[in-house]
Amino acid sequence: MPHLNLESFNPLTFPTRCGEVEFLFQANYRNPEEGALIATRYKEREFFLVYKNGSKKLLKSDKITRPSPNFILKHALLAYAECSNSPILDSNVDNAPENTHLKTHDALKSISYFANHFPRDKEVRIEVGFGSARHLLHQAAANPDVLFIGLEIHKPSIEQALKQIVIQNLTNIMILDYDARLFLEFVPSNIVGKIYVHFPVPWDKKPHRRVISEAFLKESERALRIGGTLELRTDSENYYRFALETFSLPAISRFDVRKNQEIAIVSKYEDRWKRQEKNIYDVTFTCESESPEPDTIGDFSFSTAPIAPNIIDRLSKETYKRDWGFLHVERTFTIGEEGSMIRLAMGSFDRPESTYVVIENNSAYYYPSLPVRSSANLKAHILLNELIHG
Ligand SMILES: C[S@@+](CC[C@H](N)C(=O)[O-])C[C@H]1O[C@@H](n2cnc3c(N)ncnc32)[C@H](O)[C@@H]1O
Repeated sequence: MPHLNLESFNPLTFPTRCGEVEFLFQANYRNPEEGALIATRYKEREFFLVYKNGSKKLLKSDKITRPSPNFILKHALLAYAECSNSPILDSNVDNAPENTHLKTHDALKSISYFANHFPRDKEVRIEVGFGSARHLLHQAAANPDVLFIGLEIHKPSIEQALKQIVIQNLTNIMILDYDARLFLEFVPSNIVGKIYVHFPVPWDKKPHRRVISEAFLKESERALRIGGTLELRTDSENYYRFALETFSLPAISRFDVRKNQEIAIVSKYEDRWKRQEKNIYDVTFTCESESPEPDTIGDFSFSTAPIAPNIIDRLSKETYKRDWGFLHVERTFTIGEEGSMIRLAMGSFDRPESTYVVIENNSAYYYPSLPVRSSANLKAHILLNELIHG
């Protein structure tokens, strides 16, 4: 992860503009000796830089709000050091110009793009964890009338895919840096032709992290149109058996199983498993019924009622568990003399979301972006709003 090791960390006055980067405010850890988060804006992206004051004085990215592509982060780190006159001892950040492949195309989308305007004008196919993107690129080139949405959480894979999209001049791929387990809730019902899950991480020791789950299958069934398919391809016998059990759960479903089926394009993983003569399993679920639209009514606004006294201390003492999920304050911060900020984990147990809420001038708001509009997050928000206002 890009970072700077500073000789000394010098604060800025806020807001400050350094070329294309703006520094908006600083939120200090409750113990300011530990460090601070610096709210940063580059064009329309807002995120936090983190200053950690330990045996080294490190300036790096906040994991929750980390921007993509990496260029933005590197640019912001260097801008902070320069404008605050904080000398750099060493770093792993180069001063390379922005990768023009990333700059000149718009295939990289944010989750809010899908939450606000999910494209519905053509058939959609989704690839979960596209890795080297061989399959995604091949399918998109072979099916120009279909919109492909590629989901991946590994940033170097995303950057490689974006480069290839430009080189191959493909206009029917959208790439999203997002957890596939959260994404499906944003997909309207009955519009997806195929969902590919090829060689997912087996997570044998942490099965709750697997992409395939009962909840994922239910959401896939809702998003798929009649005749649409969810295609799992795996070399892991464990995952295959687990998928069989999971796919057997819903009442209205049909699934087929194949072994060592050849497909048009072979991924890097598949190449490796084939060389090792491993068996490859396909489990394909076919949607047979129409589904209603998802029930996600409500928003993430806070009431304007007065904020309860000592709310930050009270919130941080408890984890609020409910049947739909939970709400937990992980960290607390101070902003200036009067303001505060909390880092929350919230939502469903198997798909928690981390987010920040700023509380100042008797009002509260999520920063830098709203939580994902899932039903569990909306319920967690209702609970938080009640707690904050007493
Ligand atoms: C074993 S690789 C397979 C890549 C590719 N499908 C192939 O066949 O070569 C699994 C990929 O899934 C991605 N991944 C894991 N969990 C994910 C999730 N929850 N959402 C999106 N991608 C995920 C990983 O980053 C990794 O690139």
